[in-house]
Amino acid sequence: MSEKYDIGLGNNNDDLRKQANSDFVSFWSDQAKNLLWFSTWQKTLDWRPPFAKWFVGGKINASYNALDVHQNTKYDKPAILWEGENGDSRILTYGDLFIEVQKFANVLKSLGVKKGDRVTIYLPMVPELPITMLACARIGAIHTVIFSGFSVESIRDRIDDSKSKIVVTADGGYRRGKIVKLKEVVDEAIHDFEFVEHVVVLERTKNKISILPKDKLWNDLMATASDSCDAEKLDSDHPLYILYTSGTTGKPKGVLHGTGGYLTHLYSTFKWAFDIKDSDIFFCTADIGWVTGHSYVVYAPLLHGATQIMYEGAPDFPDMSRMWHILEKYRVSIFYTTPTALRMFMKFGDDIPNSFNLSSLRLLGTVGEPINPEVWRWYYKIIGKEKCPIIDTWWQTETGGIMISPLPGLETIPLKPGSATLPIPGIDISVVDEFGSEVPPNTKGYLIIKNPWPGMLLTLWGNDKKYKNVYWSKYSNCYYPGDYALKDSDGYLWLLGRADDILKIAGHRIGTAELESCIASDYSVAESAVCGIPDDIKGEVIIVFAVLKDGVTTDKTILEKNLFNKIRTDIGPIATPKQIYFVSKLPKTRSGKIMRRLLKSIASGEKIGDTSTLDDPSAVAEIQKIVTQI
Ligand code: WTA
Repeated sequence: MSEKYDIGLGNNNDDLRKQANSDFVSFWSDQAKNLLWFSTWQKTLDWRPPFAKWFVGGKINASYNALDVHQNTKYDKPAILWEGENGDSRILTYGDLFIEVQKFANVLKSLGVKKGDRVTIYLPMVPELPITMLACARIGAIHTVIFSGFSVESIRDRIDDSKSKIVVTADGGYRRGKIVKLKEVVDEAIHDFEFVEHVVVLERTKNKISILPKDKLWNDLMATASDSCDAEKLDSDHPLYILYTSGTTGKPKGVLHGTGGYLTHLYSTFKWAFDIKDSDIFFCTADIGWVTGHSYVVYAPLLHGATQIMYEGAPDFPDMSRMWHILEKYRVSIFYTTPTALRMFMKFGDDIPNSFNLSSLRLLGTVGEPINPEVWRWYYKIIGKEKCPIIDTWWQTETGGIMISPLPGLETIPLKPGSATLPIPGIDISVVDEFGSEVPPNTKGYLIIKNPWPGMLLTLWGNDKKYKNVYWSKYSNCYYPGDYALKDSDGYLWLLGRADDILKIAGHRIGTAELESCIASDYSVAESAVCGIPDDIKGEVIIVFAVLKDGVTTDKTILEKNLFNKIRTDIGPIATPKQIYFVSKLPKTRSGKIMRRLLKSIASGEKIGDTSTLDDPSAVAEIQKIVTQI
């Protein structure tokens, strides 16, 4: 851990850290002044644990801060340089985006959408996705974007929970050269939802679709829509969006984010972590269906009037050079991606990236999972040519924005491969033991956050009780993110993965409970247990142990195939397991709890450790035999 890289951009602003340490509330109040408010707040923070209201009394609009504020100075500046997977391209300036968003806001109004109504968005990575989000924000409707890789049941649950009046989708989207039939999935998901009043369908692939009574075509609606729609003056804590994310129990939770606090957090972190300048070309590879895309594709770059690349398809399509091709073609200066993508690129060697001119790069970021030091070094040397700081950013859907990261836009500190370094100013983070006492340096413990912060989720949609239980009950008045971490003797934080039953598959968050309930709903399965084991590329992969119902005699290969298909169609291809093992019983404690840690050790070929609490030790012997045989 002594390896350090002393590179920085020469920015040093101790004053901000000092101010944040002495009074985080007035510190955030100053940061909020970077945004445009219709009326200013009377109280910066109303903290009634665990509920925080930021900038109480302030009126603001996210779409106004993303678009209207730039019209005098950046009307002709590209906001989005869009590249389709099939080579299509589009440029949308701040002026273009302003017009399109106002038009679609009027479309939503004409369809009866009012302030506070929910709009589900299930679109591929095309400009109409941020346009729809900003149109919702403009009129105070709450958007709920669903990743276009999710399938029927996942969509059904999310639309049902949010009770969206409108669903916006497309005839299809491109992924690895194939068309993903989004509209078909929506039709199946909502067929008996009377509360869904309209489905707006964008034409992207010209794939043949059936037009049902609720359907309206995007182009028809936009053709007659007026291009002038004033932004609503909304309360600072007016909900901006719901984003569903996997938890440790049951169905995904609707993380609810507000407006004023969230935007303040994004504006600040984009400036500090990415040191954004007017001349930068920013490229974040995240899909907008995940929080990184909400925060650092849609809102943060637009708040800053930045130019960014939006790419529609798979990073390895048509081949492994696609990303480097985009970086060279658009002269990208800031690149933000995941450790999984980097591990994949690294596997294909240095020659591919070395054959491109990547000299425009000045800053490299990563997010979503721990980055292995060797991958960090590869990113630094081969992609950044030893001149770009690596910005390893730790945060979550719930935190809204970056919480732990090097901040080259603010200060120069030595970087250590594999460490996300220090919390951002205004955030108080500790590593503690089971009882909440701080652990000594270099000791693994649980990460906790001791103050509220502006990007913090407001609550879980419709479930304050669960919000309290999940995040605020393990440690009194502290937020519990569910991650292991350690702090080294320099105070640097090293994130060590999830401490709960959430998996990170290629950086995507998937709950074991969600998978288990999908598998258990299959006719053949009595019960199942899911765990993640380490993988060289994806970080983690899914392993399923399933116990069949008595009397099921179907051939195991057929059952296995059925289960793979079920998971892919109910949840989505990202949840496809690496392996399914059929066993006669699962290892359980005497109180009946499945010992997933034990399964994980067996499946990854590790020592199984203490098994004294096992109810029936023969379960372990059987599983060990099956795992080693396959
Ligand atoms: C993990 C993604 C290590 C972590 C923005 C967290 C990370 C979860 C990092 C949230 C990082 C995210 N280093 N682990 N730099 N960034 N994580 O909600 O376990 O999809 O709790 O948000 O990803 O995942 P989510």
